[in-house]
Amino acid sequence: MTAALFQPLPLRGLTLNNRVIVSPMCQYSAEDGLPTDWHMIHIGGLAMAGTGMLVIEAVGVEPRGRVTPQCLGLYDDATEAALKRIIDACQQHGNTPVALQLGHAGRKASCHAPQNGGRPLAEDEGAWPTIGPSAVPFGPDWHTPAEMTRSDMDDVIAAHVQATERAHRVGFAALEIHGAHGYLLSSFLSPLANRRGDAYGGDNAGRMRFPLELFATVRAAWPADKPLGMRLNGTDWDDAGLSNEDAIAFARALKDLGCDFFDVTGGGNSMVRPPLKPGYQAPFAQTIKQATGVPTMAVGMIRDPQIAEDLITTGQCDMVAIARGFLYEPRWTWRAAHELGAEGQYPPQYARANPKLWPQAFSDADDDPNITWEPGAAPHIMVPKRS
Ligand SMILES: Cc1cc2nc3c(=O)[nH]c(=O)nc-3n(C[C@H](O)[C@H](O)[C@H](O)COP(=O)(O)O)c2cc1C
Repeated sequence: MTAALFQPLPLRGLTLNNRVIVSPMCQYSAEDGLPTDWHMIHIGGLAMAGTGMLVIEAVGVEPRGRVTPQCLGLYDDATEAALKRIIDACQQHGNTPVALQLGHAGRKASCHAPQNGGRPLAEDEGAWPTIGPSAVPFGPDWHTPAEMTRSDMDDVIAAHVQATERAHRVGFAALEIHGAHGYLLSSFLSPLANRRGDAYGGDNAGRMRFPLELFATVRAAWPADKPLGMRLNGTDWDDAGLSNEDAIAFARALKDLGCDFFDVTGGGNSMVRPPLKPGYQAPFAQTIKQATGVPTMAVGMIRDPQIAEDLITTGQCDMVAIARGFLYEPRWTWRAAHELGAEGQYPPQYARANPKLWPQAFSDADDDPNITWEPGAAPHIMVPKRS
């Protein structure tokens, strides 16, 4: 029987070939919001492993919504055209549906890239004004955001809608809204950042009102046959922050608005660090999956294919999202398929990398008396034949 990780999964009009997802990863390699050759190499390399879906890094829906000056944007014709070139190439040469993460960094915008320390930009380094649910900085020495007015909320929703329309024209197969890690929507959801006294703060129903309004508007702007998901915190990992019960209530409300998948992560609204181990956030994916029945991803230190398989067979999640594992091993999906006895998908140029065609390199198959060698389609290439 095929491994659970390699069973297809329908999400609206898109059917994923398997349950492996490349988790969004900002590359901090853009120039004025525009992708560079780095993105072509990086995204293109990830798009050829036959992975269920590749979610590319958060794009700022407006310039002030970028985390750093080196973050991607999707807010004008130039950024749209440059991303289209990359996605066109992935569609022509790759074998993986490419999705986009829409982001707005809120009070965590205007920073250096992590490789440069990640600190907030100083005035003379090009800092820009930030916005948030309340005028509460993320931490000491961080920018104090302007408390968003209703008009600011309208602007941010409009920016998401325009980016959504652009994402459709670019040809993305699916969209994920970034509602996690302490960025704008996540900060609205968290009592650590949201101290508003109006209808957009207070209890969980108030704190989730703006993210839900935004989701509903984006859903209406995104084609009915294309999946739209939400990355959300299953917990803030902070006793004073968003709880798992809050996250479940948010997920239920999103389901009612037509959310097609949840990508359950955590943290980022405070400096509290969770205890780390493979699959450490899967319990939160599980509670959300159970409460909603909506296809749900678990993420966090998943690298061993058997752990990924077990997370699915034990009902903790429907998909596994993998970030650093794919930086380390861009064709992780091939290894997982091989180790779990499933079929990997190879572009024709790389077909000979399939372990079935050179099994001795992967096992002691040269001692297998059932294998003989014969010329393949190209007569000078010997291929194994199992009797
Ligand atoms: C280089 C890098 C960039 C990241 N950028 C994003 C991002 O743009 N959006 C996001 O939601 N998460 C981002 N993340 C978090 C990952 O998607 C993922 O949730 C996290 O790394 C845990 O998964 P892992 O243990 O498989 O790496 C980033 C992680 C890394 C390592």
